[in-house]
Amino acid sequence: MLLAGDRRNVVDGYRYWQLESIVEDLDERRHGFHVAIENFSHDFNIGSVVRTANAFLAAEIHIVGRRRWNRRGAMVTDRYQHVRYHSDATTLAEWCRAGDLRLIGIDNLPGSVPLETFDLPRNCVLLFGQEGEGLSEQARIACSAVLSIAQFGSTRSINAGAAAAVAMHAWIRRHSFGQQP
Ligand SMILES: C[S@@+](CC[C@H](N)C(=O)[O-])C[C@H]1O[C@@H](n2cnc3c(N)ncnc32)[C@H](O)[C@@H]1O
Repeated sequence: MLLAGDRRNVVDGYRYWQLESIVEDLDERRHGFHVAIENFSHDFNIGSVVRTANAFLAAEIHIVGRRRWNRRGAMVTDRYQHVRYHSDATTLAEWCRAGDLRLIGIDNLPGSVPLETFDLPRNCVLLFGQEGEGLSEQARIACSAVLSIAQFGSTRSINAGAAAAVAMHAWIRRHSFGQQP
């Protein structure tokens, strides 16, 4: 790496660090939110959700459903994250309960609550659905709340990668910038 130059997509502060050392350093300051994604159809958005979860320093990433997921958009950022696998949303919900984490769905389903006015808890798992049906029925039941991102145009939804970035950043604004509880 020293001979060829470090061409990895890492911030300058981590240039030439070994992967394990970077993960160790990130582990010291990870945030309280986790990111979970339903994976039943090899959705191409999953990689981009993972990359954003790394950028905003999510505690962990959870793949719900099939273990094989579409890594293309992740740009290798999954190597710097801890990734857990759950067979379905009910299993994920049990895991959340055991760790005292609130499971919050993100989808613009009927009855969902606006993310813009919801007080996101510090310790939570944000669960995203896939192209097409969005959050599965099982996931909707497993979540303690489902939050929608306000839209104003004609499309039914934004893509899951964009929705994940908006939701994670809402958590960051609430908990990483000294806003009042
Ligand atoms: C392409 S959407 C499909 C589902 C959507 N309910 C629909 O009716 O078309 C895929 C995923 O992106 C996220 N998403 C997209 N738009 C959203 C919005 N306006 N509010 C919250 N989540 C959204 C959700 O996680 C959703 O499960």
